[in-house]
Amino acid sequence: MSTKKIIIDCDPGYDDAVALLLAAGDPSIEVLAITTVAGNQTIGKVTRNALRIAKLTGMDNVTVAMGASRPLLRGEVVVAANIHGESGLDGTTLPEAEFRVDPRPAAQVIVDTVMREPEKTVTLVPIGPLTNIALAARLEPKIVERVKEIVLMGGGCHIGNIRPMAEFNIENDPEAAHIVFEEKWPITMVGLDLTYQALATAEVKARAAQIGTPVGQFLSDVLEQFSKTYKRSKGFDEPPVHDPCAVAYVIDPTVMRTRKAAIHVEYRGEYTSGMTVVDLRKAAPPECHTQVALELDRDRFWTLVLEATERLAQQYKK
Ligand code: BDR
Ligand code: CA
Repeated sequence: MSTKKIIIDCDPGYDDAVALLLAAGDPSIEVLAITTVAGNQTIGKVTRNALRIAKLTGMDNVTVAMGASRPLLRGEVVVAANIHGESGLDGTTLPEAEFRVDPRPAAQVIVDTVMREPEKTVTLVPIGPLTNIALAARLEPKIVERVKEIVLMGGGCHIGNIRPMAEFNIENDPEAAHIVFEEKWPITMVGLDLTYQALATAEVKARAAQIGTPVGQFLSDVLEQFSKTYKRSKGFDEPPVHDPCAVAYVIDPTVMRTRKAAIHVEYRGEYTSGMTVVDLRKAAPPECHTQVALELDRDRFWTLVLEATERLAQQYKK
């Protein structure tokens, strides 16, 4: 089977952890690098979490590179300790891992990897604030033409989760998001419209709990913790597991319905900073390079996640 090569840019985080499990356990995916960005927690914490998840899932030989510790222009990153806890993964158990990261910053690793691989073979999967991706595009503009596509978790058509109109990943660095959306690479925006359909229901959690392996236990703990914190801080009965949706699209684009639409990021508005402005008024022009995900095949999505986790009973051997 020909594999799909991806770089995951992440801030683990419960749902980022599920995205990493899905990528590690799906046979169609080859993870070229895991890059980290401050978001759900500070850069040191999310990088440590990424290294430990890599160890759990047998991805210890995958390059892990540490990226931006703060947004391009704004002061500090606004972490989501209310959801993900002080460690970023509170209440879960992971193997300890040495803090061994690539000496290059994340943006450089993204550039080097995209320039090294054949043209149009590497997909970028950002599931945190877009700071590293914006920096990479400025560091080496040739990557814009060279990547296959960007499939990102962030934004939404008309809803926000951190502000009325703004989603967490975009709001944490709207200037970076603006840079990324204005470059002409193909972008699929997997935003809240879609991820609010990826709910970890009681049935999903029961299936995770039955897997009965260390990775299955980790997934089960993640979903249970995420359920508790989403209920407590946002009132959701079942939590939306955002980030693996982006990986699922790379594995199988038919897992969701998408629509081509122009997307721009508002970064100046007093009340709308961080909003992704999606033009759904009419058919997008042919040159439009962005699309938005709208409808999820929930069963197929959860089957992908659970089967990938089951495969990780064995070591990651790709
Ligand atoms: C996004 O924000 C983060 O808290 C999650 O990991 C996800 O990437 C959802 O708005
Ligand atoms: Ca994330």
